[in-house]
Amino acid sequence: MATFSSSPAWRALSDHSDAVGTLHSLFERDPHRASRYSLEVAGLFVDFSKNPVDDTTMSLLTALAREAGVEQRRDAMFAGERINETENRAVLHVALRERSSNKRIVDGVEVSGAVAAVLAKMRTFSDAVRSGAWRGYTGREITDVVNIGIGGSDLGPRMVCEALKPYGHERLSLHFVSNVDGADIAEVLKRTNPDTTLFIVSSKTFTTRETLTNARTARAWLLASGAPEEAVAKHFVAVSTNTSAVAEFGIDTANMFQFWDWVGGRYSLWSAIGLPIAVQIGMDGFEQLLDGAHAMDRHFAEAPLERNLPAILAMLGVWHQNFRGATSQLIAPYDNYLHRLPAYLQQLDMESNGKSVTLGGQRVDYATGAVIWGEPGTNGQHAFFQLLHQGTAVIPVDMIVCMRPHHGLSHHHDILVANCFAQSEALMNGSASTSEPHRNFEGNRPSNTICIDLLTPAALGALIALYEHKVFVQGVVWRINSFDQWGVELGKQLATAIEADIAASGEASTHDSSTNALINRYRARRNQTLVAA
Ligand code: F6P
Repeated sequence: MATFSSSPAWRALSDHSDAVGTLHSLFERDPHRASRYSLEVAGLFVDFSKNPVDDTTMSLLTALAREAGVEQRRDAMFAGERINETENRAVLHVALRERSSNKRIVDGVEVSGAVAAVLAKMRTFSDAVRSGAWRGYTGREITDVVNIGIGGSDLGPRMVCEALKPYGHERLSLHFVSNVDGADIAEVLKRTNPDTTLFIVSSKTFTTRETLTNARTARAWLLASGAPEEAVAKHFVAVSTNTSAVAEFGIDTANMFQFWDWVGGRYSLWSAIGLPIAVQIGMDGFEQLLDGAHAMDRHFAEAPLERNLPAILAMLGVWHQNFRGATSQLIAPYDNYLHRLPAYLQQLDMESNGKSVTLGGQRVDYATGAVIWGEPGTNGQHAFFQLLHQGTAVIPVDMIVCMRPHHGLSHHHDILVANCFAQSEALMNGSASTSEPHRNFEGNRPSNTICIDLLTPAALGALIALYEHKVFVQGVVWRINSFDQWGVELGKQLATAIEADIAASGEASTHDSSTNALINRYRARRNQTLVAA
């Protein structure tokens, strides 16, 4: 049977790969290239002209996307079909940001009413915390809100809360605890008071070891401070799909915010998992975030692939990854508020497209998801940009920059923006030094520049949705299921077994010699007192 990588569109792209000129020559040949290879959608202006592609490349990439069935698959997602086949679930985070009178039916059940009801409950709750009406057990106003969650129940809300700090509430400090490393929660508890701290325990499954361990530690800390058992209701709320586990944990289900199994963990910030965002910026701001994402959804659902921004960015990624030898993608936000964006996109992209088996169960014979990494500019320039400019690897870069800052230090902003534009220019053009090879910059290195006027909730919503749909399109092209994450399961099982070995008496002997020795070393040393030399 012919594999995808021997399909007509794939072959045509392989044959065409060497025929594309350098970026420098492409710009010389076409004075209108920058305007032809850019798009403005939902408040985001994206210049993708600094990618080594010509019109033939773009039409072959679009043909590849069509051949893979991107449009049909996209329509199936929006229609609520169970496209997450290995978990037999619909994928409908887009329904969370519709906020229209559209009636959504999932598996025969009308869900729009339930979505609206949870939004209303989030509004009541976040208003109460922000206004000071929601008080701790001693009657004092809440000053600190701690989200306890991990993966999708942490990365999205944490990234958005950081990005939208300028819209934050004066009295409230937001904290995020995710790691089971006790240092994470210990540092937060050091800086907070039990009677003015509210914990949001966020877990889709409410079975995640890290989250439940941290939540138990937080509850014990509250009670150890002298708070009565009834105080838990004033200091703990939960966000989950699992009502019985929330009740079993001891959180009043009246203080539980629900979501549904058709919302994937890494796509859940639009659901009640976004509660910390609503608390920080207010529910109006949260709804603007949803509206920004919805504007991108409409564009993705309606625009032809040729002018469809998520599809274009996805196919450029496929071009670099499958035909030009790239293996990673750098995210370089030239905006300090977006400093958590690379970490957020790591889960979105790598948990979605880090797969090597097709939906049909076959091993792929082509590269799939890229390694996603990044740091805000200009810090990255003084660290790893050397490798981008003169290293041997081709690393496509997404530069994200705001035209207006939230602060008044316009001189800083001019320098920041100049650096952003200079980097993409340098990567593209390089500069030749015939006499000194070590000063030679080859150039021809790809980048996209994403311009945002001002980092508002709506603009951020559109940006996140842009990446979500980009990842979706790539998953379809690679014939993989972007919506499961079986790859994280084995490690969880083994950790449970090793926890038991650590707790048991006698030497560990059931693992390989390396793992046995590591367990035994830990057991022998963990209670040793360090004696100063
Ligand atoms: O282990 C991976 C994962 O399942 C992610 O997909 C998810 O976002 C995270 O764990 C947290 O899961 P939960 O919200 O159920 O605690």
